[in-house]
Amino acid sequence: MNISRGMAIGYALIASVGLMSFPGLSFASDQMTAKEILQQNCVQCHRLEGKADSRFNLKAPDLIWAGSKYKRPWLISWLTGKEAPLYAKRYRWDLAEVPFKHPVVKESEANAIADYFAEHNKDPRVKVGAFDLSKVTKFEADFGAMAFKAHACLGCHTINEDGKVIGGPQSTALHASGQRYDQDWLFRFGLNPQDFVPHSGEFLADATEPQLRAVIGYLMTQGVNDFKYYEPWTSPEFGMASVSRGKVLYKEYCSQCHGATGKGDGPAASGLDPKPAIHANIPFEKLPMEYLYNVINHGGPAIGKSPNMPYWGLTIGQQGVADVIAYLKATFKGVPDGVKAAPTSGMPAKAAVIAAPVAVAAAATETSSGGGQSDACVQLRKTAKAPDSFLAMTNPLAASAEVIQAGKTLFQKSAKPAACAMCHGEKGDGKGIMGAALVPPPRNFTCNVMMKNIPDGQLFWIIKNGSSGTGMMSFAGLSDDKVWQLIQYIRSLAR
Ligand code: HEC
Ligand code: HEC
Ligand code: HEC
Ligand code: HEC
Repeated sequence: MNISRGMAIGYALIASVGLMSFPGLSFASDQMTAKEILQQNCVQCHRLEGKADSRFNLKAPDLIWAGSKYKRPWLISWLTGKEAPLYAKRYRWDLAEVPFKHPVVKESEANAIADYFAEHNKDPRVKVGAFDLSKVTKFEADFGAMAFKAHACLGCHTINEDGKVIGGPQSTALHASGQRYDQDWLFRFGLNPQDFVPHSGEFLADATEPQLRAVIGYLMTQGVNDFKYYEPWTSPEFGMASVSRGKVLYKEYCSQCHGATGKGDGPAASGLDPKPAIHANIPFEKLPMEYLYNVINHGGPAIGKSPNMPYWGLTIGQQGVADVIAYLKATFKGVPDGVKAAPTSGMPAKAAVIAAPVAVAAAATETSSGGGQSDACVQLRKTAKAPDSFLAMTNPLAASAEVIQAGKTLFQKSAKPAACAMCHGEKGDGKGIMGAALVPPPRNFTCNVMMKNIPDGQLFWIIKNGSSGTGMMSFAGLSDDKVWQLIQYIRSLAR
């Protein structure tokens, strides 16, 4: 369990005050049965039975379904006074109450109470196993985080994002949900909150069941630092993937855009902007499986790219996704280093053909600089111009060693949905393993003549929003600070 320093101090306070205000409790004899403890110390505030009722008629959250709602370690921890308050503005925020300290019991009493709940307060509406925690993918949880915001959940509940607690503290805190809730209870609650908390200011979201599952999956990761995500590409379907089945699928479902031989020239391609990726130029073996799986199973927007790249999961199923990936890996190996992104007069014929559209774009500017490899650094920028408010921005972070190092880590490894180096290259020269598949090609950050004329605010805007009509995806999920770190790193590459 991971708790922040601020919360730890909070616990200590509650625990000591709690003990002082309920001296009788801590002296309660171990012999005292859980039932007696509950009758004497809990029912004046909590209901243990009855029908769901409005928060405005209650003194404390209902414990009617307490045997299904909590993870046992959390319940023990709560009852022994080691947890932070759940309702920052108090459960009955409508009543002017003095700050409230929850009663505390001894560990043995807490265990007895947990046993009692498990025996007497199970909720028959909750189906055990309804939510399979071991199948939550990183993509699903990220999607759940988005849906949580899109459906106003953040308006009334707090969550933890990048180490910060955010959201409206009107209702219960959800930033340690993964430690606190039983997933099957949480899922049942989500199906119809009014079965539990009617007329309480609660909210019924218009979400499909897959969306609800994504939100629940996301909540179950809150407060759990080492959450073990499911990786679909480790499933049996991938173990028995077939290249020959994949080949058939490619013809049936991919070639109309990506072309029969992966050159990006299928019949639909002429009307698409950005163009379908040139698979023939991608060394698929080197791409992270997470990226490949997400773009094919969940579609372009799943990785910040064009919605014209469909989500194939429903159409071809998991076996189909596994098969077509096996086919991509067996068939397309990319082009040799050095001839990819910067077409020159001396390049081998094979690469010249594959990179033809790139050559056309690049030639337009290269004629002025002679067109040789050493001069080929300036690229034709058709990139949209950022709004003036962005162009006026300057990098608030100094080019310190730490800032540049942080930017480097994001660029080379950790940025999601994809590390920048995958396209822009480890050296930042635009020759990443995917660079040759993209028209127009990725920006060459080493080219000082070109880069020095592009303002910080322009770089910031493109990284946040992507460059529409190109392979440059949106990194909307990166905080402003991280984007500025990246920009300092990009600037350090120019020569
Ligand atoms: C003086 C009223 C009061 C008493 C007595 C009391 N509680 Fe509570 N309890 C509350 C309030 C209010 C909350 C909401 C806590 C918050 O705001 O952080 C709460 C929260 C809880 C929760 C978490 C509920 C949830 O799901 O949000 C549990 C479990 C709980 N109490 C159990 C007990 C038990 C067991 C006892 C008896 C040993 C007890 N409480 C005694 C008022 C009380
Ligand atoms: C308008 C405010 C509001 C919005 C929006 C809202 N909630 Fe709630 N939520 C509440 C209230 C009020 C309750 C029940 C009363 C309480 O706080 O105990 C509640 C209860 C819950 C609970 C059960 C808490 C517990 O421990 O008993 C969960 C889980 C929850 N909401 C999740 C969500 C999710 C997910 C969304 C978005 C789809 C959402 N809420 C949107 C106000 C809101
Ligand atoms: C309707 C047209 C269309 C079809 C059909 C299609 N794609 Fe795509 N695909 C695209 C477009 C457009 C892009 C480029 C998206 C971008 O760069 O924003 C793309 C990109 C990709 C990429 C990502 C490359 C990158 O730039 O990161 C992969 C991998 C891919 N497609 C695989 C497939 C597979 C496998 C199939 C068949 C199962 C398929 N596509 C079918 C249009 C299509
Ligand atoms: C899937 C490939 C891909 C990935 C991954 C990628 N880029 Fe790009 N990027 C491109 C392409 C293609 C262009 C050229 C777009 C254009 O011409 O407008 C580009 C252009 C840019 C530009 C140029 C903006 C301008 O105004 O000229 C910046 C800045 C940039 N990328 C930053 C990044 C950063 C930072 C990352 C990682 C967080 C990243 N890119 C990841 C493909 C990618």
